[in-house]
Amino acid sequence: MLECVRRDGSVLHATDNGCYCFRLLFLLTIVLLCVRPALPGGVSLGAHLVCARVAGLTDKQRAMCRSSPAAIAAVGDGLRMAYAECRNQLGGYRWNCTGIGDGNDFGHVMPLATREAAFTYAITSAGVTHALSTACARGDLPACGCSSNRRRAPSPSDQFHWGGCGESAYGARFARRFLDSREIEADARSLMNLHNNRVGRKFNLQIVKDLVRRECKCHGVSGSCALRTCWRALPPFRAVGAALREKYHRARLVTPHPPPATHAPQTHLVIRRPRQNAGVGRQPRKSELVFLEPSPSYCEAEPMTGSFGTHGRHCNRTSRGEDGCETLCCGRGYNTIQSVEETKCRCKFHWCCRVSCEKCVTRTEIHVCK
Ligand SMILES: *[C@@H]1O[C@H](CO)[C@@H](O)[C@H](O)[C@H]1NC(C)=O
Ligand SMILES: *[C@@H]1O[C@H](CO)[C@@H](O)[C@H](O)[C@H]1NC(C)=O
Repeated sequence: MLECVRRDGSVLHATDNGCYCFRLLFLLTIVLLCVRPALPGGVSLGAHLVCARVAGLTDKQRAMCRSSPAAIAAVGDGLRMAYAECRNQLGGYRWNCTGIGDGNDFGHVMPLATREAAFTYAITSAGVTHALSTACARGDLPACGCSSNRRRAPSPSDQFHWGGCGESAYGARFARRFLDSREIEADARSLMNLHNNRVGRKFNLQIVKDLVRRECKCHGVSGSCALRTCWRALPPFRAVGAALREKYHRARLVTPHPPPATHAPQTHLVIRRPRQNAGVGRQPRKSELVFLEPSPSYCEAEPMTGSFGTHGRHCNRTSRGEDGCETLCCGRGYNTIQSVEETKCRCKFHWCCRVSCEKCVTRTEIHVCK
């Protein structure tokens, strides 16, 4: 029996109104998939054209795109979600994710191996994993192989049965193959990117596992719950973003090992000791973000470092945090712009037929970094 899973992950039971439409749609999709024009190797013409048009893919990524177009659509969703979440978490900081995902979706340019680059790679990798897991749980990805056994017909003895699935392993695997395939240089920066990619993936899986909720819907005579359909609902990506921001603040400065001066191949990263002769540091944990060089101040625009400066940024006069005027404006001070807006308010309806309103004045102040 086919379950009807809504876009939000909820499951319609076969007897529900609306389910028949879902099933019809499903059959239509099957028909379309069967008659689509195929190229040698079973790759659809549509995927070929679409994958050729996506900018910024490596050859390996383009091949993955052609063989798994549905997964690539989820990857795109994941990247957009990651970029939006970056702005949501760090939008008030001196470095506010500018340049990330502007234009070219599939490659972000972080010229320096900074803490900000670490965060960008981790949240991107987490977002892609998250979107793939979500698509998989909805049954959107034929290849993720987690549909048949949990979607069985309800039997009278069942307390509940699973609809959809919460399988995340496929998502993490695809995200790893797709994103890590960019890192082919075998240098310190590649080691750093691979490490942070992995932190993002692991962290997404962990949070999803900790917070995953079981949501159920009752079927039966007026809420008797004789039969329940349950599904695993993924937690919102916001939780992953907030946790990665904590990681960003506690990211570790690392150095490649063996040291560059030995000219031996660099095999792993170690935490950089404050003093040169303090011996070799430990390897970073799999839960720690790592970076290779200190960040610029981001106070002035310096394109070479990925800094856009904070002139003209809006700051918060009362905040002591990163978005506070003191920190954000780098001590240069700020201008306050007052605006007065008149709006209609407290409107009343008089019988019949007249509406009268009062005039309200709202004063707003914004503070802008000099
Ligand atoms: C982020 O910073 C850039 C450069 O300083 C600025 O132009 C942009 O408006 C900022 N974005 C937000 C959402 O504050
Ligand atoms: C400014 O910061 C204060 C203290 O952190 C906060 O309560 C307030 O909501 C912030 N205002 C805006 C407009 O973000």
